[in-house]
Amino acid sequence: MNYSELKPFPTDFLWGGSTSAYQIEGAWNEDGKGPSVIDMSNHTQGIADYKVASNHYHHYKEDVKLLAEMGLKAYRFSVAWTRIYPDGDGEVNEKGIDFYDNLIDELISYGIEPILTMYHFDLPFALEKNGGWSDRKTIDAFEQYAKTLFNHFGDRVKYWLTINEQNMIILHGESIGTSSQHDENKQADLYQQNHHMLVAQAKAMALCHNMLPEAKIGPAPNIATIYPTTSKPEDVLAADTYSNIRNWLYLDVAVYGTYNPIAWAYLEEKGYTPTIKEGDMETLKKSKPDFIAFNYYTSQTVGESLNDESDYSHTGDQHEIVGEPGAYRGSVNDNLRKTEFGWEIDPVGFRTVLRELYSRYHLPLIVTENGLGAFDKLEEGDIINDTYRIDYIQQHLQQIQLAITDGIKVFGYCPWSAIDLVSTHQGSSKRYGFIYVNREENNLKDLRRIRKQSFYWYKKVIETNGKVLNEV
Ligand code: BG6
Repeated sequence: MNYSELKPFPTDFLWGGSTSAYQIEGAWNEDGKGPSVIDMSNHTQGIADYKVASNHYHHYKEDVKLLAEMGLKAYRFSVAWTRIYPDGDGEVNEKGIDFYDNLIDELISYGIEPILTMYHFDLPFALEKNGGWSDRKTIDAFEQYAKTLFNHFGDRVKYWLTINEQNMIILHGESIGTSSQHDENKQADLYQQNHHMLVAQAKAMALCHNMLPEAKIGPAPNIATIYPTTSKPEDVLAADTYSNIRNWLYLDVAVYGTYNPIAWAYLEEKGYTPTIKEGDMETLKKSKPDFIAFNYYTSQTVGESLNDESDYSHTGDQHEIVGEPGAYRGSVNDNLRKTEFGWEIDPVGFRTVLRELYSRYHLPLIVTENGLGAFDKLEEGDIINDTYRIDYIQQHLQQIQLAITDGIKVFGYCPWSAIDLVSTHQGSSKRYGFIYVNREENNLKDLRRIRKQSFYWYKKVIETNGKVLNEV
């Protein structure tokens, strides 16, 4: 729908930026931090690991100062579970608490709202050794961890995110490095892990509401709109099937406390249904999020399954592998351009996702990731001319404004990433930040922070509360 006039962004809109602990902090074994599954996973030779990353652990003051200069109203970061509980549970590591206390205080001193993700891919390795999410004990460990976070930071943190991209952990754990297996039937094991995470999340949400009545908490999945490859009814149906498996399975449980029927039928057909213990469904029903946070990078396109291996569209990463024999067939969308890393760029699909989410769940929305990974070039005079990133973000923000005009409640936007960091599996040269970090894959150089063109542009967007977005 076209409008003669657009509604403005709300005056209290949370213009933000986003990062995650293991991708930005470094200091992987300092001050008592324990190893996580990411620290212990096999690392591709030749690309940056997470040992130093952007060394934010030692640069956080300088980093926050830059974020404040850019005008951020909110900063979404994650806490490394292994800094707080080096062994996943048991003894608290006070130095880990101190780090996040200082980071939060620093943000607040500049008037930046902290948005805290409790768990972003980096499960403590000590828990993984004992079965990880396949073992129900990890639910208790997460609840204990959540309690500690609420206790220590709840006086200052109003916005909480439970688990980052649980759906990607289940569907694409191998490409992002979280995949684990504790049973012969890998897929069934994954959906058992999924169930335990959903229960853990519900418990954390209930705890949050009990301990911090003023705070707000929500899940943070990755949501993509799913297109049918043609208007053939079978293709349209396949797109709906995939959307239920990829998107709504996770959010229906979080919001309504029930398993999505189409996703459940898929689990039954494949033999992947999880064991649900007495009391689990009550736990899931008892808590409800206050908002939905979600990450959006691209849309996906599928058609009717041909029921063989050719259903897989291609082998790539979390945003490229699509297809499953018997369910839906992966396809590409010829209407869309791609990033240098092969991800389709679809700002209009973003507006569709915002509409779909709000129509299904009637909860306020916040975008916790959206951005463009690219090989930025540092030119003489410390110039990084990332106009492609400005284009990407501008087009996506314009779609948010259209969605707001559609009547969708969106209260914040935290693009990925506030500062350059190390990608999930493509190293440090796949950059997303507004601020350049001067390092190469295997050469840490001076880790100097340099403002990119997009830094100055985003600053102006924030200063004008989005008005510049529509200036020609
Ligand atoms: C999301 C993750 O999947 O996408 C981030 O939450 C990740 O951790 C981001 O970095 C971009 O993906 P990648 O693979 O390019 O780092």
